Amino acid sequence: MKRILVTGAAGMTGSELCEQATAAGWIVLPLTHADADITDARLLADVARKFRPDVVVNAAAYTAVDRAESEPDVAMAVNRDGARNVASAAASAGAPLIHISTDYVFNGEGRIPYDPDARTGPVGVYGKTKLAGEAAVADENPSHVIVRTSWLFSHRGSNFVRTMLRLGAERDELRVVDDQVGRPTSSTDLATALLKVAGAIADNPTLAGVYHFANAGETSWFGFAEEIFEQAKSLGERHVPRVVPIPTSEFPTPARRPAYSVLDTTSFSKRFAVEPRSWQSAVRDTVALTLRNSLARAHT
Ligand SMILES: NC(=O)c1ccc[n+]([C@@H]2O[C@H](COP(=O)([O-])OP(=O)(O)OC[C@H]3O[C@@H](n4cnc5c(N)ncnc54)[C@H](OP(=O)(O)O)[C@@H]3O)[C@@H](O)[C@H]2O)c1
Repeated sequence: MKRILVTGAAGMTGSELCEQATAAGWIVLPLTHADADITDARLLADVARKFRPDVVVNAAAYTAVDRAESEPDVAMAVNRDGARNVASAAASAGAPLIHISTDYVFNGEGRIPYDPDARTGPVGVYGKTKLAGEAAVADENPSHVIVRTSWLFSHRGSNFVRTMLRLGAERDELRVVDDQVGRPTSSTDLATALLKVAGAIADNPTLAGVYHFANAGETSWFGFAEEIFEQAKSLGERHVPRVVPIPTSEFPTPARRPAYSVLDTTSFSKRFAVEPRSWQSAVRDTVALTLRNSLARAHT
């Protein structure tokens, strides 16, 4: 049986990955933030040497995009230095590293989907720290796969689907940005894809490189919100709000976001034989699970 070490194991993607890896028969060492802070290089190296993983996945990150603008040093310590520590711990245990990165490494001025070699140019602190993390990982461990993804959602954690369903239950109208376009991606589907990479890279280090994985299709946050409520309605939700499209200028945030961040996933599909399903299909599953969980909570 193969052994996988996962940092950020309580996060949206990390928790999914640990569940799926366990179900698939991997021996899993899930490291939550409380178990191991990735800024602690020595602890990580010790743990990795003892566990002897076949592959390490770094799903830990500082993901508070707006907060990063006011605490860049903290974000850099986790997203660059922490990523380097995980890469180095994996290398010292002789294991390849899978590291997750983001569409926010691009400036968003493109008009066609970004392929992994496209020129980067982050417009905010979070994207800058994630790009620095990519470089640190590549420096530290030649056997690395960096998987950039975008607009993650899940039935767990803090994300757009859960926020929309919560606000939609409280309000009659929601105003949502319509001039930022991307590819919403299910953390469940991302975890399945990462596990495929884990199986492949453990046997074949020549797969190292930068890839993109996202669900298929593209939309704006407004389109995403509309889909969430359409699915919720079709699943029996009685109160759904009216969704009104607005420009970014009417919803100022501390961090600037790329206007266009559609990722081209072609090379990932070819290399790892994974064809991402449509984002709408993935949203349907997540909305169903989220509504089922909140119904179950209401009855306990
Ligand atoms: N969310 C998105 O829309 C999105 C989009 C593109 C790419 N990504 C990337 O995808 C990856 C997974 O994101 P996610 O949304 O699944 O993340 P998430 O739910 O925010 O989980 C991240 C996890 O990392 C942990 N963490 C934070 N600082 C840490 C530290 N110093 N040491 C150890 N653990 C630490 C967090 O623990 P605490 O909560 O206890 O701090 C949390 O459990 C990240 O690399 C992220 O940059 C995310």
